[in-house]
Amino acid sequence: ALNADDKAHIQAIWPSVASHAEQYGADALYRMFLCHPQTKTYFPNFDFSANSAQLKNQGKKVLHALSEVVKHLDHAEATLSHLSDLHAFTLRVDPGNFALLSNNILVVIAMHHSDKFDSLTHQALDKFMNYVSGVLTSKYR
Ligand code: HEM
Repeated sequence: ALNADDKAHIQAIWPSVASHAEQYGADALYRMFLCHPQTKTYFPNFDFSANSAQLKNQGKKVLHALSEVVKHLDHAEATLSHLSDLHAFTLRVDPGNFALLSNNILVVIAMHHSDKFDSLTHQALDKFMNYVSGVLTSKYR
């Protein structure tokens, strides 16, 4: 679980991320699709080219969902309940794919904010993405 230090590190860097939600989200998705083409199978008829309108739209949604969790770090289950149902029951995304997107989100944040991305912030964001992924895949069982 996230401890007080993790939460402080997440909350310290997150405003820099949230103000570029669309760009960072689109870039993280673009990189996930590029490095792990199997993830494209969940997005039929999708324009995977860099900066496509669909990438931006989906990227913005993903990052906004994460921002909601950051606002309610002690209530991720409730905040993500609808998305948890969607990914498990409707989309049936293989749970392994969440780590792939999570890593690409970390890469994009690190690229743009290397000054703030110290090892403890890295660890906190990694734990955060792991926590979110855990909630989003909890309904598979
Ligand atoms: C849709 C968030 C991971 C596949 C969505 C939506 C959000 C979201 C907010 C839009 C829901 C709506 O419109 O009501 C997240 C978050 C993730 C995550 C926070 C992890 C950090 C993944 C992964 C995949 C995936 C790993 C597959 C590789 C999809 C698909 C849709 C979707 C296929 C529906 C797109 C559409 O048809 O509009 N996700 N997602 N998601 N997500 Fe995720």
